[in-house]
Amino acid sequence: MDIEFVRSRFIKHFDGKTGNIYASPGRINLIGEHTDYNGGFVFPGAVDKGIMAEMRPNGTESTIRAYSIDLKDRVDFDFHDGQGPRASWARYIYGIALEMEKLGVPVKGFNIAFAGDVPLGAGMSSSAAMESCFACGLNDLFGDNKVSKWDMVLAGQATEHNYCGVNCGIMDQFASVFGQAGKLMRLDCRSREFEYFPFNPKGYKLVLLNSCVKHELAGSPYNDRRNSCENVVKHIAAKHPEGTFETLRDCTWEQLEEVRAEVGEEDYKRAHFVLGEKDRVLAVCDALVAGDYETVGKKMYETHDGLSKEYEVSCEELDFLNDIAKECGVTGSRIMGGGFGGCTINLVKDDLYDSFIATAKEKYAAKYGKEPKVYDVIISDGSRKIC
Ligand code: GLA
Repeated sequence: MDIEFVRSRFIKHFDGKTGNIYASPGRINLIGEHTDYNGGFVFPGAVDKGIMAEMRPNGTESTIRAYSIDLKDRVDFDFHDGQGPRASWARYIYGIALEMEKLGVPVKGFNIAFAGDVPLGAGMSSSAAMESCFACGLNDLFGDNKVSKWDMVLAGQATEHNYCGVNCGIMDQFASVFGQAGKLMRLDCRSREFEYFPFNPKGYKLVLLNSCVKHELAGSPYNDRRNSCENVVKHIAAKHPEGTFETLRDCTWEQLEEVRAEVGEEDYKRAHFVLGEKDRVLAVCDALVAGDYETVGKKMYETHDGLSKEYEVSCEELDFLNDIAKECGVTGSRIMGGGFGGCTINLVKDDLYDSFIATAKEKYAAKYGKEPKVYDVIISDGSRKIC
């Protein structure tokens, strides 16, 4: 992203002075979908697309003057007024200011202008990129950088929960804050332990195909999925007072079968997907260590099937892109992120790449009247101060 571009807008829309510039990326996820809020494993990495913001204290007690460069929209608000702004993009700034304050950062009024090149609604976590970028800025401007990376991750997640209506897990904010160039990360969302995995599969590329069906998690069936999982855990816990059951991570296949009739088929299928996905992430880790990309790809297809048929977060267009990948002999392909639109992530052999992309564009355009957008994945660094 272009620093000078962001700076020129910051200068133009405020008082001509410059501030500090911060950047945070969006993310991909190789495998482990809807496992984060179930205490399972995820396998994300940060990408070379994200959000860049210029920020500067403005001398007021609590007035935030915010400009979205992409939307050409200016919103000024007092973050202590108890309501916050209505514009959905500005609520991320509002939420982060309050959450960072809760962490002991003496946040005061500031000016901010920001822009992004991570596509919105593509399942690449543009919202987490905003949260972690703004958190990084406030930590630096007002907090002496005393807030830890994990606390910034949690502040981003709390912003989603408390001000944006999405009961998300921690994968996206984690990836955006902790990302490192060239490395994926395996995170255990229960213990929060994680490991960096260098990812440079010889002979393969990771590529995203954006269906251009915009996904929107706020007020969406995303929260319903989470409720289903929690409901199954509640039923299992009631049957087994001797055990501790916090999330589906603590539950076995047998226990799930025991409550099948009482929780109903929909919740059963959703929990069934999550248990399978938990196992798949571990299988993918082993396969990666062994350099066995065929198995990695096979698991990706299994995840897609589960997300489509059991978890029901796919859509016609994403299933169509997945079918094309299969027909072309692509090693692995699946929906990435929350679902309901956005991208597929594809593990493609180098020599198949060109013909796959050409076929996907042609067939998708013939059916839906528009080509999918193609993004090569470049695994990059997490949140940082640029200057
Ligand atoms: C969204 C959420 C994440 C995660 C994914 C699905 O991206 O923000 O916490 O649940 O969906 O894996």
